[in-house]
Amino acid sequence: MAVRIITTVAEMHSYSNQVAKEGKVIGFVPTMGYLHEGHVSLVRKSNELCDITVASIFVNPTQFGPHEDLAKYPRDFERDKKLLEENECDVIFFPSAAEIYPEGFQTTVEVNKITRILEGASRPTHFKGVTSVVAILFNCVKPHFAFFGQKDAQQAAVIKQMAKDLKMDLQIMVEPIIREADGLALSSRNVYLSKEDREHALILNKTLILGKEIIDSGERNCEKIITGMSENVAKVSAAKLDYISITNADDFSMTVRLVPGKSYYLLIACRIGATRLIDNLLITL
Ligand code: PAJ
Repeated sequence: MAVRIITTVAEMHSYSNQVAKEGKVIGFVPTMGYLHEGHVSLVRKSNELCDITVASIFVNPTQFGPHEDLAKYPRDFERDKKLLEENECDVIFFPSAAEIYPEGFQTTVEVNKITRILEGASRPTHFKGVTSVVAILFNCVKPHFAFFGQKDAQQAAVIKQMAKDLKMDLQIMVEPIIREADGLALSSRNVYLSKEDREHALILNKTLILGKEIIDSGERNCEKIITGMSENVAKVSAAKLDYISITNADDFSMTVRLVPGKSYYLLIACRIGATRLIDNLLITL
């Protein structure tokens, strides 16, 4: 069946109300478009668990900093539509910026603690933009399940916190990172990489694997693990390290020493040429 495209909030509301009245479960995959296998994996997961899958495509201006890539963020709606259709997505919610932020708009949603570190420290207004738009999109689509990628592990943690604090009646699902055969995590921003930078970008995943090896060899002191990983990044002169960090996987709090029975994220952010990339690895001891 052809994918249905909905561009207005009013139509999205009435569609979701109708579907819910029929007793169907709605799965939602929010995206900024320029879709790849990572996004598609979320659509497939939603199809597996839900009766109806809605994907949104909205390049949200409020989550980009003043010097970030909003204007040149890659867009290709026809390609995205084809990919979603092939993967049996039922609805694409594709609103304009004026539909989401009409004249007189004045409300934001902000999570206060875990948004200050890592991505939040590097991009101070980013998460406020993300939580505000995701709250709006949830209110438009009214999903029972919403699917996010572990690729943006901090974003997923921030959204879980928002949903919990605001008593949102839906379940947030976090799905594994999809990678190229050589380990590079798929990202819409990979299109910015030159051939050489594409090679240099492999340092992110390689450094995470090295971190895991250091842990597997018995090291539990986070500072030492991070030092070993940072030295690895320093070998690639094209890579400018932003951060390497280890957080508790459950609440994203920082940790100094790893303990048995717990899960952690090893996280890395690097600039490769002009492109800022992030990656992470989930470790369970
Ligand atoms: P976007 O970057 O388009 O990502 C949409 C979703 O795809 C996010 O949940 C992201 O974590 C997931 N994703 C990206 N790369 C992935 C990969 N390699 N493997 C698995 N999942 C991957 O994240 C956003 O958009 C926006 O911030 C949004 C939540 C839509 C709010 O505007």
